[in-house]
Amino acid sequence: MSKRVIEMSNIIKRYYIGQPNELQILNGMNITVHEGEFVAIVGASGSGKSTLMNIIGALDRPTEGTYHLNGTDVSRLNDKQLSQIRNKEIGFVFQTFNLISKSNALKNVELPMLYAGKSRKERRQRALELLKLVEMSDRASHKPNELSGGQKQRVAIARAMANDPSIILADEPTGALDSKTGHLVMDIFHKLHKEEGKTIVLITHSPELAAETDRIITISDGNIVSDTGYKDPDSTETEVNA
Ligand SMILES: Nc1ncnc2c1ncn2[C@@H]1O[C@H](COP(=O)(O)OP(=O)(O)OP(=O)(O)O)[C@@H](O)[C@H]1O
Ligand SMILES: [Mg+2]
Repeated sequence: MSKRVIEMSNIIKRYYIGQPNELQILNGMNITVHEGEFVAIVGASGSGKSTLMNIIGALDRPTEGTYHLNGTDVSRLNDKQLSQIRNKEIGFVFQTFNLISKSNALKNVELPMLYAGKSRKERRQRALELLKLVEMSDRASHKPNELSGGQKQRVAIARAMANDPSIILADEPTGALDSKTGHLVMDIFHKLHKEEGKTIVLITHSPELAAETDRIITISDGNIVSDTGYKDPDSTETEVNA
């Protein structure tokens, strides 16, 4: 039985609470993700994918419900503890890359390790290894504006891996790329999943890219409308949200 990395139970998110324009965006979601799963989250624009991602990534707290990240009850953490758990457990990848423009690729990958208190030597060594993993060694000294979109995203993925997180959380990572480049970036996620055993949660508009993953969760208007379920590698049965 593999470890549960994400355990969400009856997650509700509301905005403008107590005001006439109160909005409920997530209507009580239950999601369990096991270690080593590659999950795609799909759904129309405005359905609540990024809102859900912000909660999974401990960037935001749910209004109601419980969320355990690797066994830690995230709703009980203060802001400082939240930022610590984010730095340690989550590797974020965004549509717009979010690299530091004045720093080269190597420095960008080193940054999360600096926050985590790793030594200079350790940071440098790990960053070089990660750039190799995403096949960007020959661009280590390039700044973001000297890289193509696909290359920037590969550096961002290397950065996301820096502190060896439990989850890689990617919100539309191929959204700003053409389809061929998007597939190349997707190949990197497959590599992290297969070779590094990473748990990956990928938000995408592309049914084609979602179909390449192990499991598809479809969201509509803040509800899970379908979930193809966890496939236990040790079992022939499929459990949904078990
Ligand atoms: N901070 C906020 N305050 C109020 N409403 C918000 C806030 N963030 C998101 N919303 C609303 O929540 C709903 C879901 O937004 P969300 O960004 O989660 O959608 P999405 O599925 O990621 O869409 P897209 O595919 O366009 O990125 C939208 O109606 C949005 O207006
Ligand atoms: Mg979004």
